[in-house]
Amino acid sequence: MSREKFAIHVRDGYSFKGPSVKIGRGKLEGEVVEGADVYLPLKMLNRHGLIAGATGTGKTKTLQLISEYLSSEGIPVLVMDIKGDLSGIAVPGSTNDKIKERSDLIGIPFEPSGFPVELLTLSPSQQGVRLRATVTEFGPILFSKILGLNDTQSGLVSMLFKYSDDHDMPLLDIKDFKSLLQFASEAGKADIEKEYGKISTVSLSTIQRKIIELEQQGGDAFFGEVSFDVADLMRTDSEGQGVISVLRVMDLQDKPKMFSTFMLQLLAELYGTCPEVGDLDKPKLVMFIDEAHLIFSEASKALLQQIETTIKLIRSKGIGIFFCTQNPMDVPASILGQLGMKVQHALRAFTAADRKVIKQTAENYPLSDFYKTDELLTQVGVGEALFTCLNEKGIPTPLVHVMLSAPRSRMDVLTDGEVLDLMKRSQLAGRYNAEVDNRSAHEMLQERINNAKKETEKVVEQKKKAKEEPTIIEQVLDNSVVKSSLRTAATMLTRSLLGTLFGGRKR
Ligand SMILES: Nc1ncnc2c1ncn2[C@@H]1O[C@H](COP(=O)(O)OP(=O)(O)O)[C@@H](O)[C@H]1O
Ligand SMILES: [Mg+2]
Repeated sequence: MSREKFAIHVRDGYSFKGPSVKIGRGKLEGEVVEGADVYLPLKMLNRHGLIAGATGTGKTKTLQLISEYLSSEGIPVLVMDIKGDLSGIAVPGSTNDKIKERSDLIGIPFEPSGFPVELLTLSPSQQGVRLRATVTEFGPILFSKILGLNDTQSGLVSMLFKYSDDHDMPLLDIKDFKSLLQFASEAGKADIEKEYGKISTVSLSTIQRKIIELEQQGGDAFFGEVSFDVADLMRTDSEGQGVISVLRVMDLQDKPKMFSTFMLQLLAELYGTCPEVGDLDKPKLVMFIDEAHLIFSEASKALLQQIETTIKLIRSKGIGIFFCTQNPMDVPASILGQLGMKVQHALRAFTAADRKVIKQTAENYPLSDFYKTDELLTQVGVGEALFTCLNEKGIPTPLVHVMLSAPRSRMDVLTDGEVLDLMKRSQLAGRYNAEVDNRSAHEMLQERINNAKKETEKVVEQKKKAKEEPTIIEQVLDNSVVKSSLRTAATMLTRSLLGTLFGGRKR
């Protein structure tokens, strides 16, 4: 195939009416082809995407450079920084011979640049704007999921949420929920059971144990005030650049269940809060989830179904979601089928299973007259990929082996000093990092628990006083013969009462 034909093929396939950004240039038979420029149409970003490839092939850098392009176009971005290698987006990168060569080959001059970054965190031990939600906002279903409860136990959680709601006791943080559990097992048990049905003591203690586990994993830090307003993810700076929110979730690497639940809560919150907008010229927010296999690896069937539905529906809210993962088969087929843009970096063919993945992956791409896709999949270099996206008519663009541009920001982390500096300039830190502890279920219930305790203590005290001097009656009652005859009398009394109640049968 001639290079001219290839260049025309790519140019035709990647010309768009609406705004688009150039991300690299096509390669044929190992050579970059002049004029075979590859563009990304902004309008189609709400049709989601996948960035896949073996370790070290350039997935995270692709995520970084696409985020930069979007920010420059005024599109806010949220990235999940699982490995902690994305904070560098805030400062300009540096150039070297390799980067210079790359930029010459693809015809994109390298201009080092930093981007407006807001660091977010789920945990108080990390620098960043605290991302928190109240227990009530999280809702009983997801809250049960994060605790890993079964149906019976989550039923009880739902009932407790309902009780707190009916009695105007806000569940803000874990302290509130713990007090509610304590109340339900002691002072409030009778009252709650009267209104809502039986409380299983076994389930209650399981939930109590799971809460302790959550606290030990640091998961409790996420719950509480001030609750994060997702509108703050959709900001532009004074120059009109989209703010890139970097959510640092390094401590969730080994807690996939927690990670997937947070993700789902965030998606649900975005879905619930953002208005329906249909297909915009460019999205309102694009979200990148690095190391996305963590979300899918341990998610239950129900959770996956929820993720699938949310992804389908969130499109019309102008939100695009991009998954980054090593093996494209990590993403369930039902979700994979919904991803419009695909950036496939190199795959390795070490085992039979690897070769199967390569074959399947190749079959998932548009047919090409120019490439043997399965062979190419193992050959593409670092910072190169097989690329296809949807054109403005929703049809897949031609498959191109593309050499991607280099990120303009630093391909490494910020120093501690730079992080502190960034936090000083943060527009959100003041609002979200204040410790607020409003009156909520904990305070209200502790009062009731304490009152009940005082009541009990009073009764016990009175009894104790009475015990000290046995009355004559007590002395009489202490006689076992009297005791047993009294018991018989009591039994008879009960029987006759029951008799009256149930139809007056005489015995
Ligand atoms: N687009 C690119 N331009 C220049 N260098 C790149 C590019 N993509 C990857 N690299 C190089 O490859 C290394 C690994 O990339 P990275 O994105 O961290 O891999 P992955 O996330 O797939 O493990 C980077 O540190 C960088 O040196
Ligand atoms: Mg990576």
